[in-house]
Amino acid sequence: MATPHAAGEAGSELADFGRWLFTQECRFLISAAQSDHLPLSDLPEVAFAGRSNVGKSSLINALTGRKMLARTSNSPGRTRLLNFFDLGERLMLVDLPGYGYARAAKGDIRRWTGLTRDYLRGRAQLRRVCLLVDSRHGLKEGDRTIMEVLDAAAVSYQLVLTKADKSKPGPIDAMKSDLGRELTRHAATHPNILVTSAHKHQGIDELRAALAALALGAPEEGDS
Ligand code: GTP
Ligand code: MG
Repeated sequence: MATPHAAGEAGSELADFGRWLFTQECRFLISAAQSDHLPLSDLPEVAFAGRSNVGKSSLINALTGRKMLARTSNSPGRTRLLNFFDLGERLMLVDLPGYGYARAAKGDIRRWTGLTRDYLRGRAQLRRVCLLVDSRHGLKEGDRTIMEVLDAAAVSYQLVLTKADKSKPGPIDAMKSDLGRELTRHAATHPNILVTSAHKHQGIDELRAALAALALGAPEEGDS
């Protein structure tokens, strides 16, 4: 069994690799509007899912240290296509359209929700979904629907709380405990809930380390 010291060293190597990985060139590959536009690739993939406006594109920018890589906006529903980014030819990052945005045309919402679900169910190289949840609001109906899709497809997913700078540590801790209890009812979830702020760079290195483990193909502690 690994001693705590050895485990700590392994953790810090992963953190170093994560920091290095996210300094590598991150190249926008393609925006996919339909399933047959998805790029052919055998890179391990991580997708960022969540409600519209939760901060998916901002988090990708914070992870990669680029302000404008993924397009962000004050108006919800900015990302309507599946956007693929190749990080150093080691890891594919995928910025997904948000759900729960009511003001777009119904046909459009159906199209991009259908495409996102097909992608989540059928993408063989998808190693992890980061399911972003606003740290002030917790899980909403659309999040639970996606969790069921991911449970059924046995796609590993991890909750990532966003916009922590807009909340206080006390309520965030309480929310983490509540979510932790709810997660025990879901099969494919990763038990470690991360707390982030793209604006204040909080939790970014921790998330980089978690994603670096996927790029290495290393089984991570707590993986199901
Ligand atoms: P869609 O593409 O519409 O699904 O949205 P998204 O999830 O990609 O959200 P986006 O990154 O575009 O951010 C939405 C809004 O939230 C923008 O105004 C961001 O500036 C803001 N935002 C994102 N991350 C943070 C954060 O960490 N803190 C604060 N305070 N605001 C944030
Ligand atoms: Mg977006």
